[in-house]
Amino acid sequence: MTAQTSGRSATGRPVNRFAARAGPGQGGEVPTATLLDGARTLATVMLPVVARGAIVRRPRVVGLVERIDGDRRAVAQMQRVRERYGPGPVQVRIPGRRFTFLLEPDQVHRVLAQSPEPFATATREKRGALSHFQPRGVLISDPAGRARRRPLNDAALQPGRAVHEHGAHMAALISEEVDALLADVDRAGVLDWDAYVTAWMRIVRRIVLGDGARDDDAVTDDLLRLRQAGNWSFFAPTRLATRRRFLARMRAYLERAEPGSLAARLAAARAPRGSAPHEQIPQWLFAYDAGAWSSFRALALLSTFPEAGARARAEAGVAPDLPYLRACVLESLRLWPTTPAILRDTTAPTTWSSGTLPAGASVVLFAPFFHRDDTRLPQAHRFSPELWLDARTEADWPLVPFSGGPGMCPGRDVVLLTASTVLARLLAARGFRLEGGAPLSADAPMPGTLSPFRLRFSTTRPS
Ligand code: HEM
Repeated sequence: MTAQTSGRSATGRPVNRFAARAGPGQGGEVPTATLLDGARTLATVMLPVVARGAIVRRPRVVGLVERIDGDRRAVAQMQRVRERYGPGPVQVRIPGRRFTFLLEPDQVHRVLAQSPEPFATATREKRGALSHFQPRGVLISDPAGRARRRPLNDAALQPGRAVHEHGAHMAALISEEVDALLADVDRAGVLDWDAYVTAWMRIVRRIVLGDGARDDDAVTDDLLRLRQAGNWSFFAPTRLATRRRFLARMRAYLERAEPGSLAARLAAARAPRGSAPHEQIPQWLFAYDAGAWSSFRALALLSTFPEAGARARAEAGVAPDLPYLRACVLESLRLWPTTPAILRDTTAPTTWSSGTLPAGASVVLFAPFFHRDDTRLPQAHRFSPELWLDARTEADWPLVPFSGGPGMCPGRDVVLLTASTVLARLLAARGFRLEGGAPLSADAPMPGTLSPFRLRFSTTRPS
Protein backbone atom coordinates (compact mmCIF):
# COMPACT_ATOMS: atom_id res chain seq x y z
CA MET A 1 0.00 0.00 0.00
CA THR A 2 1.22 3.50 -0.74
CA ALA A 3 1.12 6.33 1.73
CA GLN A 4 1.92 9.94 0.94
CA THR A 5 4.47 11.79 3.04
CA SER A 6 3.09 15.20 2.18
CA GLY A 7 -0.03 16.73 0.68
CA ARG A 8 -3.00 18.80 1.69
CA SER A 9 -4.78 18.32 4.96
CA ALA A 10 -8.51 18.41 5.60
CA THR A 11 -7.92 21.94 6.85
CA GLY A 12 -6.81 22.80 3.31
CA ARG A 13 -3.25 23.69 4.31
CA PRO A 14 -0.25 21.88 2.80
CA VAL A 15 1.37 19.39 5.15
CA ASN A 16 4.87 18.06 5.29
CA ARG A 17 5.20 15.27 7.78
CA PHE A 18 8.81 16.18 8.56
CA ALA A 19 8.39 19.97 8.75
CA ALA A 20 6.73 20.55 12.07
CA ARG A 21 8.74 18.50 14.54
CA ALA A 22 8.32 19.91 18.02
CA GLY A 23 11.02 19.33 20.59
CA PRO A 24 10.38 17.78 24.01
CA GLY A 25 7.93 19.62 26.21
CA GLN A 26 8.39 20.64 29.81
CA GLY A 27 10.82 18.43 31.77
CA GLY A 28 11.72 16.36 28.68
CA GLU A 29 8.19 14.97 28.42
CA VAL A 30 6.36 14.53 25.10
CA PRO A 31 4.73 17.87 24.19
CA THR A 32 1.46 18.90 25.81
CA ALA A 33 -1.18 20.69 23.73
CA THR A 34 -2.18 24.20 24.77
CA LEU A 35 -5.36 24.52 26.82
CA LEU A 36 -7.33 25.57 23.73
CA ASP A 37 -5.99 22.84 21.44
CA GLY A 38 -6.50 20.27 24.19
CA ALA A 39 -10.10 21.34 24.78
CA ARG A 40 -10.81 21.28 21.03
CA THR A 41 -9.30 17.82 20.68
CA LEU A 42 -11.27 16.39 23.58
CA ALA A 43 -14.47 18.03 22.31
CA THR A 44 -14.18 16.91 18.68
CA VAL A 45 -12.38 13.58 19.05
CA MET A 46 -13.21 12.05 22.45
CA LEU A 47 -16.58 13.56 23.34
CA PRO A 48 -18.45 12.03 20.36
CA VAL A 49 -16.94 8.60 21.16
CA VAL A 50 -18.29 8.77 24.71
CA ALA A 51 -21.60 10.46 23.81
CA ARG A 52 -22.46 7.87 21.14
CA GLY A 53 -22.07 5.18 23.80
CA ALA A 54 -18.83 3.21 23.92
CA ILE A 55 -20.47 -0.02 25.08
CA VAL A 56 -23.95 0.23 23.61
CA ARG A 57 -24.73 2.80 20.94
CA ARG A 58 -27.33 5.54 21.40
CA PRO A 59 -28.94 5.73 17.95
CA ARG A 60 -30.16 9.30 18.39
CA VAL A 61 -26.70 10.58 19.22
CA VAL A 62 -25.23 8.58 16.32
CA GLY A 63 -27.80 10.29 14.05
CA LEU A 64 -26.75 13.67 15.40
CA VAL A 65 -23.05 12.95 14.85
CA GLU A 66 -23.92 11.85 11.30
CA ARG A 67 -25.75 15.15 10.65
CA ILE A 68 -22.66 17.18 11.61
CA ASP A 69 -20.32 14.62 9.97
CA GLY A 70 -18.57 14.42 13.32
CA ASP A 71 -15.87 11.93 12.40
CA ARG A 72 -14.68 14.07 9.48
CA ARG A 73 -14.30 16.96 11.91
CA ALA A 74 -12.44 14.74 14.34
CA VAL A 75 -9.95 13.62 11.68
CA ALA A 76 -9.45 17.26 10.62
CA GLN A 77 -8.70 18.19 14.24
CA MET A 78 -6.12 15.39 14.53
CA GLN A 79 -4.49 16.64 11.32
CA ARG A 80 -4.35 20.13 12.82
CA VAL A 81 -2.71 18.77 15.95
CA ARG A 82 -0.06 16.98 13.89
CA GLU A 83 0.59 20.12 11.82
CA ARG A 84 1.01 22.13 14.96
CA TYR A 85 2.95 19.77 17.23
CA GLY A 86 4.83 17.59 14.76
CA PRO A 87 5.00 13.81 14.79
CA GLY A 88 4.15 13.53 18.47
CA PRO A 89 2.81 11.80 20.40
CA VAL A 90 1.01 14.75 21.98
CA GLN A 91 -0.54 14.92 25.41
CA VAL A 92 -3.84 16.47 26.37
CA ARG A 93 -4.05 16.85 30.12
CA ILE A 94 -7.10 17.17 32.31
CA PRO A 95 -7.13 16.97 36.10
CA GLY A 96 -6.36 13.36 37.08
CA ARG A 97 -5.73 12.03 33.55
CA ARG A 98 -3.32 12.58 30.68
CA PHE A 99 -4.46 11.42 27.24
CA THR A 100 -1.64 10.85 24.78
CA PHE A 101 -2.58 10.85 21.10
CA LEU A 102 -0.55 8.78 18.63
CA LEU A 103 0.21 10.67 15.42
CA GLU A 104 2.50 8.43 13.36
CA PRO A 105 2.32 4.81 12.09
CA ASP A 106 5.50 3.68 13.91
CA GLN A 107 3.90 4.76 17.21
CA VAL A 108 0.79 2.71 16.43
CA HIS A 109 2.82 -0.39 15.57
CA ARG A 110 4.91 -0.01 18.70
CA VAL A 111 1.99 0.41 21.09
CA LEU A 112 0.04 -2.52 19.66
CA ALA A 113 3.09 -4.81 19.51
CA GLN A 114 4.16 -3.95 23.08
CA SER A 115 0.81 -4.72 24.70
CA PRO A 116 0.07 -5.60 27.46
CA GLU A 117 3.36 -4.32 28.86
CA PRO A 118 4.23 -1.48 28.96
CA PHE A 119 0.96 -0.67 27.13
CA ALA A 120 -1.82 -2.32 29.13
CA THR A 121 -5.03 -3.28 27.34
CA ALA A 122 -6.88 -3.25 30.68
CA THR A 123 -7.19 0.53 30.90
CA ARG A 124 -8.98 2.39 33.64
CA GLU A 125 -11.85 3.36 31.30
CA LYS A 126 -12.30 -0.20 29.97
CA ARG A 127 -12.26 -1.73 33.44
CA GLY A 128 -14.92 0.74 34.54
CA ALA A 129 -17.14 -0.03 31.56
CA LEU A 130 -16.70 -3.77 31.01
CA SER A 131 -16.70 -4.92 34.63
CA HIS A 132 -20.45 -4.25 34.63
CA PHE A 133 -20.89 -7.53 32.75
CA GLN A 134 -17.56 -9.39 32.50
CA PRO A 135 -15.31 -8.60 35.47
CA ARG A 136 -12.95 -11.40 34.48
CA GLY A 137 -13.04 -10.89 30.68
CA VAL A 138 -9.68 -11.13 28.89
CA LEU A 139 -9.76 -7.52 27.70
CA ILE A 140 -9.71 -6.15 31.24
CA SER A 141 -7.44 -8.80 32.76
CA ASP A 142 -3.99 -8.09 34.18
CA PRO A 143 -1.09 -9.81 32.36
CA ALA A 144 -1.32 -12.97 34.49
CA GLY A 145 -5.09 -13.28 33.94
CA ARG A 146 -4.66 -12.51 30.23
CA ALA A 147 -2.10 -15.32 29.90
CA ARG A 148 -4.74 -17.77 31.20
CA ARG A 149 -7.76 -16.34 29.33
CA ARG A 150 -6.51 -15.37 25.89
CA PRO A 151 -5.73 -19.00 24.88
CA LEU A 152 -9.30 -19.96 25.78
CA ASN A 153 -10.66 -17.27 23.47
CA ASP A 154 -8.29 -18.34 20.70
CA ALA A 155 -9.24 -22.01 21.08
CA ALA A 156 -12.94 -21.27 20.65
CA LEU A 157 -12.82 -18.47 18.07
CA GLN A 158 -9.96 -19.81 15.91
CA PRO A 159 -8.42 -16.53 14.69
CA GLY A 160 -6.38 -16.98 11.52
CA ARG A 161 -8.84 -19.48 10.08
CA ALA A 162 -11.06 -17.87 7.42
CA VAL A 163 -13.68 -20.62 7.77
CA HIS A 164 -14.25 -21.70 11.37
CA GLU A 165 -14.46 -25.40 12.16
CA HIS A 166 -18.21 -24.82 12.61
CA GLY A 167 -18.43 -23.00 9.26
CA ALA A 168 -20.86 -25.42 7.59
CA HIS A 169 -23.21 -25.36 10.59
CA MET A 170 -23.01 -21.57 10.70
CA ALA A 171 -23.81 -21.28 6.99
CA ALA A 172 -26.87 -23.53 7.37
CA LEU A 173 -28.33 -21.61 10.31
CA ILE A 174 -27.64 -18.28 8.62
CA SER A 175 -29.59 -19.48 5.55
CA GLU A 176 -32.58 -20.33 7.75
CA GLU A 177 -32.52 -16.98 9.51
CA VAL A 178 -32.04 -14.96 6.31
CA ASP A 179 -35.01 -16.78 4.75
CA ALA A 180 -37.13 -15.86 7.78
CA LEU A 181 -35.89 -12.26 7.59
CA LEU A 182 -36.74 -12.02 3.88
CA ALA A 183 -40.25 -13.31 4.53
CA ASP A 184 -40.71 -10.41 7.00
CA VAL A 185 -39.15 -7.96 4.57
CA ASP A 186 -41.49 -9.06 1.78
CA ARG A 187 -44.46 -8.44 4.08
CA ALA A 188 -43.18 -5.02 5.19
CA GLY A 189 -41.87 -4.01 1.75
CA VAL A 190 -38.64 -2.69 3.24
CA LEU A 191 -35.50 -3.89 5.03
CA ASP A 192 -34.75 -1.60 7.95
CA TRP A 193 -32.44 -1.73 10.95
CA ASP A 194 -34.97 -3.21 13.37
CA ALA A 195 -35.70 -6.18 11.11
CA TYR A 196 -32.01 -6.71 10.36
CA VAL A 197 -30.81 -6.57 13.96
CA THR A 198 -33.56 -8.92 15.16
CA ALA A 199 -32.41 -11.55 12.65
CA TRP A 200 -28.75 -10.81 13.42
CA MET A 201 -29.25 -11.38 17.16
CA ARG A 202 -30.92 -14.74 16.53
CA ILE A 203 -27.98 -15.74 14.36
CA VAL A 204 -25.52 -14.59 17.03
CA ARG A 205 -27.23 -16.47 19.86
CA ARG A 206 -27.32 -19.64 17.76
CA ILE A 207 -23.65 -19.34 16.76
CA VAL A 208 -22.39 -18.43 20.23
CA LEU A 209 -24.71 -20.24 22.63
CA GLY A 210 -26.39 -22.86 20.43
CA ASP A 211 -29.63 -23.31 18.48
CA GLY A 212 -31.54 -23.61 21.77
CA ALA A 213 -30.76 -19.94 22.49
CA ARG A 214 -32.40 -18.66 19.30
CA ASP A 215 -35.33 -17.05 21.09
CA ASP A 216 -33.62 -16.29 24.39
CA ASP A 217 -34.25 -12.55 24.12
CA ALA A 218 -34.03 -12.34 27.91
CA VAL A 219 -30.30 -12.99 27.85
CA THR A 220 -29.77 -10.23 25.26
CA ASP A 221 -32.00 -7.89 27.29
CA ASP A 222 -30.07 -8.52 30.51
CA LEU A 223 -26.81 -7.87 28.70
CA LEU A 224 -28.30 -4.69 27.23
CA ARG A 225 -29.17 -3.38 30.69
CA LEU A 226 -25.67 -4.14 31.95
CA ARG A 227 -24.11 -2.52 28.90
CA GLN A 228 -26.23 0.60 29.40
CA ALA A 229 -24.68 0.89 32.84
CA GLY A 230 -21.30 0.19 31.20
CA ASN A 231 -21.72 3.35 29.07
CA TRP A 232 -21.43 5.28 32.34
CA SER A 233 -18.34 3.34 33.44
CA PHE A 234 -17.45 3.87 37.12
CA PHE A 235 -20.16 6.50 37.41
CA ALA A 236 -23.01 3.97 37.34
CA PRO A 237 -23.59 1.46 40.13
CA THR A 238 -23.24 -2.17 39.06
CA ARG A 239 -26.60 -3.98 38.77
CA LEU A 240 -25.40 -6.87 40.86
CA ALA A 241 -28.57 -8.99 40.69
CA THR A 242 -28.81 -8.65 36.89
CA ARG A 243 -25.11 -9.46 36.52
CA ARG A 244 -25.43 -12.53 38.74
CA ARG A 245 -28.43 -13.78 36.73
CA PHE A 246 -26.76 -13.05 33.40
CA LEU A 247 -23.47 -14.75 34.29
CA ALA A 248 -25.39 -17.76 35.65
CA ARG A 249 -27.02 -18.05 32.19
CA MET A 250 -23.57 -17.92 30.58
CA ARG A 251 -22.42 -20.74 32.86
CA ALA A 252 -25.53 -22.80 32.03
CA TYR A 253 -24.99 -22.42 28.28
CA LEU A 254 -21.34 -23.38 28.71
CA GLU A 255 -22.32 -26.50 30.64
CA ARG A 256 -24.91 -27.38 28.02
CA ALA A 257 -22.17 -27.05 25.32
CA GLU A 258 -24.58 -27.49 22.46
CA PRO A 259 -22.83 -29.13 19.47
CA GLY A 260 -21.93 -26.59 16.76
CA SER A 261 -21.84 -23.63 19.17
CA LEU A 262 -18.80 -21.57 20.17
CA ALA A 263 -19.74 -22.39 23.75
CA ALA A 264 -19.08 -26.06 22.94
CA ARG A 265 -15.61 -25.25 21.66
CA LEU A 266 -14.93 -23.21 24.77
CA ALA A 267 -16.13 -26.05 26.99
CA ALA A 268 -13.75 -28.42 25.19
CA ALA A 269 -10.71 -26.18 25.77
CA ARG A 270 -8.43 -26.73 28.75
CA ALA A 271 -9.39 -24.07 31.30
CA PRO A 272 -6.69 -23.30 33.87
CA ARG A 273 -7.80 -22.49 37.41
CA GLY A 274 -9.16 -18.94 37.66
CA SER A 275 -9.62 -18.50 33.91
CA ALA A 276 -13.41 -18.01 34.27
CA PRO A 277 -14.41 -19.41 30.84
CA HIS A 278 -18.08 -18.35 31.15
CA GLU A 279 -16.98 -14.74 31.65
CA GLN A 280 -15.34 -14.72 28.22
CA ILE A 281 -18.67 -15.18 26.43
CA PRO A 282 -20.25 -11.76 27.20
CA GLN A 283 -17.52 -10.05 25.14
CA TRP A 284 -18.46 -12.26 22.19
CA LEU A 285 -22.17 -11.46 22.42
CA PHE A 286 -21.46 -7.78 22.90
CA ALA A 287 -18.82 -7.50 20.16
CA TYR A 288 -21.06 -9.17 17.59
CA ASP A 289 -23.05 -5.88 17.54
CA ALA A 290 -20.24 -4.31 15.55
CA GLY A 291 -20.70 -7.06 12.98
CA ALA A 292 -24.32 -5.97 12.51
CA TRP A 293 -23.38 -2.32 12.00
CA SER A 294 -20.52 -3.08 9.63
CA SER A 295 -22.44 -5.60 7.53
CA PHE A 296 -25.50 -3.35 7.24
CA ARG A 297 -23.24 -0.49 6.14
CA ALA A 298 -21.52 -2.88 3.70
CA LEU A 299 -24.96 -3.63 2.21
CA ALA A 300 -25.41 0.12 1.74
CA LEU A 301 -22.03 0.31 -0.03
CA LEU A 302 -22.85 -2.64 -2.28
CA SER A 303 -26.19 -1.02 -3.16
CA THR A 304 -24.46 2.27 -3.96
CA PHE A 305 -21.70 0.77 -6.13
CA PRO A 306 -23.44 -1.55 -8.63
CA GLU A 307 -20.20 -3.09 -9.98
CA ALA A 308 -19.13 -4.11 -6.49
CA GLY A 309 -22.64 -5.41 -5.84
CA ALA A 310 -22.48 -7.57 -8.99
CA ARG A 311 -19.05 -8.92 -8.05
CA ALA A 312 -20.25 -9.79 -4.55
CA ARG A 313 -23.38 -11.46 -5.91
CA ALA A 314 -21.30 -13.55 -8.31
CA GLU A 315 -19.22 -14.79 -5.38
CA ALA A 316 -22.22 -15.86 -3.28
CA GLY A 317 -22.58 -19.62 -3.23
CA VAL A 318 -19.21 -20.27 -4.92
CA ALA A 319 -16.82 -20.74 -1.98
CA PRO A 320 -17.42 -20.58 1.78
CA ASP A 321 -14.66 -18.06 2.51
CA LEU A 322 -16.16 -15.25 0.32
CA PRO A 323 -12.98 -13.14 -0.04
CA TYR A 324 -14.57 -10.20 -1.85
CA LEU A 325 -17.47 -9.87 0.58
CA ARG A 326 -15.02 -10.07 3.50
CA ALA A 327 -13.03 -7.26 1.88
CA CYS A 328 -16.25 -5.21 1.60
CA VAL A 329 -17.01 -5.69 5.30
CA LEU A 330 -13.41 -4.78 6.18
CA GLU A 331 -13.72 -1.71 3.99
CA SER A 332 -16.92 -0.75 5.80
CA LEU A 333 -14.91 -1.08 9.03
CA ARG A 334 -12.09 1.06 7.62
CA LEU A 335 -14.47 3.82 6.54
CA TRP A 336 -16.49 3.67 9.76
CA PRO A 337 -14.46 1.91 12.47
CA THR A 338 -16.65 0.48 15.19
CA THR A 339 -13.91 0.81 17.83
CA PRO A 340 -12.79 4.34 17.00
CA ALA A 341 -10.61 4.80 20.08
CA ILE A 342 -8.24 1.94 20.91
CA LEU A 343 -6.90 2.67 24.38
CA ARG A 344 -3.84 1.57 26.33
CA ASP A 345 -2.48 2.63 29.75
CA THR A 346 1.28 2.91 30.23
CA THR A 347 2.57 0.67 33.04
CA ALA A 348 6.12 2.13 32.99
CA PRO A 349 7.84 5.29 31.73
CA THR A 350 8.38 5.15 27.96
CA THR A 351 10.67 7.14 25.66
CA TRP A 352 9.62 8.66 22.33
CA SER A 353 11.45 10.84 19.81
CA SER A 354 9.63 13.87 21.22
CA GLY A 355 10.28 13.07 24.91
CA THR A 356 9.26 10.73 27.70
CA LEU A 357 5.88 9.66 28.98
CA PRO A 358 5.35 8.62 32.61
CA ALA A 359 3.57 5.47 33.75
CA GLY A 360 -0.21 5.82 34.15
CA ALA A 361 -0.82 7.80 30.94
CA SER A 362 -3.73 6.90 28.69
CA VAL A 363 -2.56 6.28 25.12
CA VAL A 364 -5.20 6.93 22.44
CA LEU A 365 -5.05 5.37 18.98
CA PHE A 366 -7.83 7.20 17.15
CA ALA A 367 -8.45 4.77 14.29
CA PRO A 368 -10.40 7.15 11.96
CA PHE A 369 -7.35 9.45 11.86
CA PHE A 370 -5.24 6.68 10.31
CA HIS A 371 -8.04 5.17 8.22
CA ARG A 372 -9.18 8.48 6.72
CA ASP A 373 -6.03 10.65 6.66
CA ASP A 374 -6.29 12.10 3.15
CA THR A 375 -2.80 13.63 3.37
CA ARG A 376 -1.28 10.16 3.52
CA LEU A 377 -3.77 7.67 2.12
CA PRO A 378 -4.96 8.36 -1.44
CA GLN A 379 -8.02 6.09 -0.99
CA ALA A 380 -8.99 7.76 2.31
CA HIS A 381 -12.55 8.71 1.38
CA ARG A 382 -13.18 6.23 -1.45
CA PHE A 383 -14.84 2.84 -1.22
CA SER A 384 -11.77 0.66 -1.97
CA PRO A 385 -12.29 -3.00 -1.03
CA GLU A 386 -9.17 -3.85 -3.02
CA LEU A 387 -7.14 -2.42 -0.12
CA TRP A 388 -7.96 -5.66 1.69
CA LEU A 389 -7.49 -8.15 -1.11
CA ASP A 390 -3.66 -8.04 -1.07
CA ALA A 391 -1.91 -9.77 1.80
CA ARG A 392 -1.32 -7.20 4.50
CA THR A 393 1.63 -7.13 6.88
CA GLU A 394 2.06 -5.72 10.36
CA ALA A 395 4.34 -3.04 8.86
CA ASP A 396 1.59 -1.71 6.56
CA TRP A 397 -0.10 1.61 6.98
CA PRO A 398 -2.15 1.21 10.13
CA LEU A 399 -5.63 0.07 9.18
CA VAL A 400 -6.65 -1.35 12.52
CA PRO A 401 -10.39 -2.07 12.77
CA PHE A 402 -9.54 -5.16 14.83
CA SER A 403 -6.55 -3.59 16.66
CA GLY A 404 -3.25 -5.50 16.29
CA GLY A 405 -0.47 -7.29 18.17
CA PRO A 406 -1.15 -9.62 21.12
CA GLY A 407 -4.44 -7.83 21.96
CA MET A 408 -5.81 -8.11 18.43
CA CYS A 409 -9.44 -9.21 18.22
CA PRO A 410 -9.55 -13.02 18.31
CA GLY A 411 -13.13 -12.91 16.93
CA ARG A 412 -12.15 -11.22 13.65
CA ASP A 413 -12.41 -14.28 11.42
CA VAL A 414 -15.58 -15.63 12.95
CA VAL A 415 -17.33 -12.26 12.66
CA LEU A 416 -16.12 -11.67 9.10
CA LEU A 417 -17.38 -15.14 8.18
CA THR A 418 -20.76 -14.43 9.78
CA ALA A 419 -21.12 -11.02 8.15
CA SER A 420 -20.02 -12.10 4.68
CA THR A 421 -22.25 -15.19 4.75
CA VAL A 422 -25.30 -13.12 5.77
CA LEU A 423 -24.58 -10.67 2.94
CA ALA A 424 -24.05 -13.49 0.44
CA ARG A 425 -27.41 -15.05 1.32
CA LEU A 426 -29.20 -11.70 1.08
CA LEU A 427 -27.62 -10.77 -2.25
CA ALA A 428 -28.32 -14.19 -3.75
CA ALA A 429 -32.03 -13.82 -2.94
CA ARG A 430 -32.86 -10.16 -3.62
CA GLY A 431 -31.71 -6.93 -5.20
CA PHE A 432 -31.33 -4.06 -2.69
CA ARG A 433 -31.85 -0.36 -3.26
CA LEU A 434 -30.83 2.15 -0.64
CA GLU A 435 -33.78 4.39 0.16
CA GLY A 436 -33.43 8.15 0.82
CA GLY A 437 -31.84 9.67 3.86
CA ALA A 438 -28.40 8.06 3.85
CA PRO A 439 -25.60 10.46 2.89
CA LEU A 440 -24.06 7.97 0.43
CA SER A 441 -23.41 8.53 -3.24
CA ALA A 442 -21.09 6.82 -5.73
CA ASP A 443 -20.03 10.27 -7.01
CA ALA A 444 -19.12 11.85 -3.67
CA PRO A 445 -16.49 11.18 -1.00
CA MET A 446 -17.68 8.75 1.65
CA PRO A 447 -19.06 10.61 4.69
CA GLY A 448 -17.04 10.58 7.90
CA THR A 449 -19.99 9.20 9.86
CA LEU A 450 -22.71 6.82 8.67
CA SER A 451 -25.44 5.76 11.07
CA PRO A 452 -26.47 2.15 10.44
CA PHE A 453 -29.70 2.76 12.35
CA ARG A 454 -31.26 4.95 9.66
CA LEU A 455 -30.45 2.79 6.64
CA ARG A 456 -33.46 1.38 4.75
CA PHE A 457 -33.55 -0.74 1.64
CA SER A 458 -36.27 -1.62 -0.82
CA THR A 459 -35.88 -5.01 -2.46
CA THR A 460 -36.45 -6.62 -5.83
CA ARG A 461 -36.52 -10.28 -6.82
CA PRO A 462 -33.82 -11.39 -9.23
CA SER A 463 -35.32 -11.98 -12.70
C1 HEM B 1 -16.90 -6.28 13.43
C2 HEM B 1 -16.84 -6.82 14.63
C3 HEM B 1 -15.70 -6.63 15.59
C4 HEM B 1 -14.76 -5.65 15.64
C5 HEM B 1 -14.59 -4.46 14.73
C6 HEM B 1 -13.90 -5.96 16.77
C7 HEM B 1 -12.84 -5.18 17.17
C8 HEM B 1 -12.07 -5.44 18.28
C9 HEM B 1 -11.04 -4.58 18.77
C10 HEM B 1 -10.63 -3.26 18.12
C11 HEM B 1 -10.53 -5.16 19.87
C12 HEM B 1 -9.39 -4.63 20.72
C13 HEM B 1 -9.92 -3.68 21.72
C14 HEM B 1 -8.81 -3.06 22.52
O1 HEM B 1 -7.65 -3.30 22.28
O2 HEM B 1 -9.16 -2.30 23.40
C15 HEM B 1 -11.24 -6.39 20.10
C16 HEM B 1 -11.00 -7.25 21.14
C17 HEM B 1 -11.66 -8.43 21.32
N1 HEM B 1 -12.64 -8.96 20.53
FE1 HEM B 1 -13.41 -8.13 18.87
N2 HEM B 1 -14.33 -7.12 17.35
C18 HEM B 1 -15.42 -7.56 16.66
C19 HEM B 1 -16.16 -8.70 16.92
C20 HEM B 1 -15.80 -9.66 17.83
C21 HEM B 1 -16.50 -10.91 18.02
C22 HEM B 1 -17.73 -11.33 17.21
C23 HEM B 1 -15.87 -11.57 19.01
C24 HEM B 1 -16.17 -12.94 19.56
C25 HEM B 1 -16.98 -13.80 19.00
C26 HEM B 1 -14.79 -10.73 19.49
C27 HEM B 1 -13.94 -11.04 20.52
C28 HEM B 1 -13.02 -10.17 21.04
C29 HEM B 1 -12.25 -10.44 22.26
C30 HEM B 1 -12.35 -11.68 23.13
C31 HEM B 1 -11.41 -9.34 22.43
C32 HEM B 1 -10.39 -9.12 23.54
C33 HEM B 1 -9.04 -9.62 23.07
C34 HEM B 1 -7.92 -9.43 24.07
O3 HEM B 1 -8.01 -8.56 24.94
O4 HEM B 1 -6.93 -10.14 23.93
N3 HEM B 1 -14.79 -9.59 18.74
N4 HEM B 1 -12.19 -6.54 19.11
